[in-house]
Amino acid sequence: MSDRGPEAGAAAVYIEQLAHYVGERVTIRGWVAGTRSSGKVRFLIVRDGTGLVQGVVTADSGPGAFEAVGSLPIEAAVEVEGLVRADDRAPGGVELSLGRVLPVHVPEEEYPIAPKEHGVGFLMQHRHLWLRGRKQVPVLRVRDGALWAMRRFFKERRFVATEAPILVSTSVEGTTTLFSIDYFGQPAYLSQSGQLYLEATCAALGKVYWIGPVFRAEKSKTRRHLTEFWMLEAEVAFLEHEGNLQLQEDLVRYVAQYVAEEHGDDLEVLERDPNVLLAAVKEPFPRIAYADAVELVRCAGVDMEHGEDLGAPAEDVLSRHFGRPVFVERFPIGIKPFYMKRCADAPACALCADLIAPEGYGEIIGGSQRVDTQAELEAQLAEAGVPQDPYAWYVDLRRWGSVPHAGFGLGVERTVAWLCGIPHLREAIPFPRMLDRLAP
Ligand code: 4AD
Repeated sequence: MSDRGPEAGAAAVYIEQLAHYVGERVTIRGWVAGTRSSGKVRFLIVRDGTGLVQGVVTADSGPGAFEAVGSLPIEAAVEVEGLVRADDRAPGGVELSLGRVLPVHVPEEEYPIAPKEHGVGFLMQHRHLWLRGRKQVPVLRVRDGALWAMRRFFKERRFVATEAPILVSTSVEGTTTLFSIDYFGQPAYLSQSGQLYLEATCAALGKVYWIGPVFRAEKSKTRRHLTEFWMLEAEVAFLEHEGNLQLQEDLVRYVAQYVAEEHGDDLEVLERDPNVLLAAVKEPFPRIAYADAVELVRCAGVDMEHGEDLGAPAEDVLSRHFGRPVFVERFPIGIKPFYMKRCADAPACALCADLIAPEGYGEIIGGSQRVDTQAELEAQLAEAGVPQDPYAWYVDLRRWGSVPHAGFGLGVERTVAWLCGIPHLREAIPFPRMLDRLAP
């Protein structure tokens, strides 16, 4: 049934529903994606956000329809009525024999984006329009699908969504990427991660997650860094390192399978083979210790010292070597934040893991078991040179009913970029924020 409301005349439907209406007259509302003519036939390509359909008119199609198609520019808004015909060669398997073409809004100026090729700078400046592009729409649909799958995964496992604040008084991931703001005369920051707050809510609710925007003042321009990005974070009481990795693996597999199965049409437009995703997420994900990863990276000719964080070239080596998502465990504590528990058998190593995506998409998850005694936490805060006062509430969590707990944060845009097979994070979010981009 149409969900576009009661209509006089032909039912108004979405393009993605057309296959159910073969032989019927329907109305489609959308925007002109293109027109062409071939002799006495004119073609109108309409998009409505759910797909594209080709409409066909001839001089005797209906009053004014042939002339209207001839004069409509790209991105005119239209309402068209026509007969749905099955056509195996057409995208979606259907075509419309148009009877009526009603312009809703005809732009007076030429659409700035099509049909020429444009540089990325120009496209980013016109992001508000570029979003309508043939390859942009499916990315945003996959993003929506991936976020839905994440929520469904956690709902099925009876996690509770608990939101973390954006305006905060503490850093989580070091002070170099903090955005400072003035909070009524008091120093404050935009949150880098909701983790500390999820540690509090997991002690109230057992297992929690949230999906929200976080902020990092990343001063370098790379294709993997945004200054505002979305993170999915989960935190579970009584969960330890092993269980944490299993939870992450299950989540990534669930989301990739959902997208491969439910977004085949979108992936096809993006020329992304869903089988590549399905093959990548077969169980189990490989694991490697940081120390071994460094050896592997050096053997592959990438210059790197023990004790350094994995940079993009190192992650690329691991990504190529395993061809699957791979967990890198047991990082040196010096390159990890204060809140991570240390390995019982190696106090110089953090009980943590990063999940590196295949195909050069870099780290998509960072997670760890958290330090759970007051004495250790206070010592680790002091070692990190972090002032203790703002963290008093966080220390409190270790004062009353502290339990082993673990969690992780997944970068939504990096995950979406990998799922879609697009090289740059800027297209994995509607309005990216980067070092040099604050508008539109
Ligand atoms: O590894 P990170 O820094 O982990 C945390 O923030 C933890 N507090 C999360 C937790 O345990 N609850 O960031 C998590 C993920 C990274 O693996 C990466 O995918 C993504 O966030 N990420 C970025 N994505 C886009 N742009 C950036 N500048 C990013 N920085 C991290």
